[in-house]
Amino acid sequence: MSVDSEIQYAPARLDLAGKVALVTGGTRGIGRGIVLAMAAAGAKVIVSGRDRSNAEDVVAATRKVGTEGDLVVCDLFDDDAVDTLISDTVALAGKLDILVNNAGIDADGPMIDYDLETWRRVIRFDLEVPMRLSQQAARHFVANGGGSIVNIASVLSQVAVAEAGAYTPAKHGVLGLTRTMALELGKQGVRVNCVAPGLIQTDMTNNLWGSEAGMAYARDRIPCGRIGQPRDIGGAVVFLASEAADFIHGQVIVVDGGSLAT
Ligand code: NAI
Repeated sequence: MSVDSEIQYAPARLDLAGKVALVTGGTRGIGRGIVLAMAAAGAKVIVSGRDRSNAEDVVAATRKVGTEGDLVVCDLFDDDAVDTLISDTVALAGKLDILVNNAGIDADGPMIDYDLETWRRVIRFDLEVPMRLSQQAARHFVANGGGSIVNIASVLSQVAVAEAGAYTPAKHGVLGLTRTMALELGKQGVRVNCVAPGLIQTDMTNNLWGSEAGMAYARDRIPCGRIGQPRDIGGAVVFLASEAADFIHGQVIVVDGGSLAT
């Protein structure tokens, strides 16, 4: 056996050059961080977002790291748009190798009074939409020699907090979806994994970052001693989507500064 064939890890295996990735909700927050990390790793990243000007801004940022990007405007609450997002992306970029289901919403409230319509809305956006996009992407990947799906779950895919009674079941569901699809698709060349962020400073968690007391509370609960930032998530996504993670399948990488360890 040559030494070359024994060397299973090399930084080159993290390279995404030649790959096309679609990142939903890539216009801001964690999604924007993922888009920039994947672009820096060499991927052509297609950003899906509702707002053209925000998407154009992040696409312009990908060009600064030397890769081409592009955008698809898509409201993920629009069923028809969800049904055509993967084919629109393939038509635009010529192919698709990586799907990152990042877009998500939350709506807090005590369970005993939780509004049913709100519950359905969160479950639909955070669980049904990733399922439908993964299904379409998987069909494309199976027909075209393989691909990779990375779902952005949450630490709330594994533990619960009070008053997140739709978001927590949805994110637990994302982990279940990841594992189920992994079981079914691995032999067909499709790897499915997820990343579970802890508290990250974005618009979604604005209510917490608004006051120094809120910031201190969050910092105290994070063993790394700082608040998570959108740039903290992209590395795990790049890794899972890359050849370096070729034998990692049906798994979750928790990126939370240690909060789940407490
Ligand atoms: P954010 O609110 O800053 O960004 C959400 C993204 O989804 C935006 O790009 C937004 O435009 C997009 N989006 C919202 N509604 C949409 C619609 N109808 N159609 C198309 N796109 C839509 O949220 P953040 O924090 O960046 O969250 C990203 C992902 O990370 C979500 O799945 C969230 O659940 C997850 N997450 C966030 C954590 C945090 O502390 N911020 C912790 C754990 C997970």
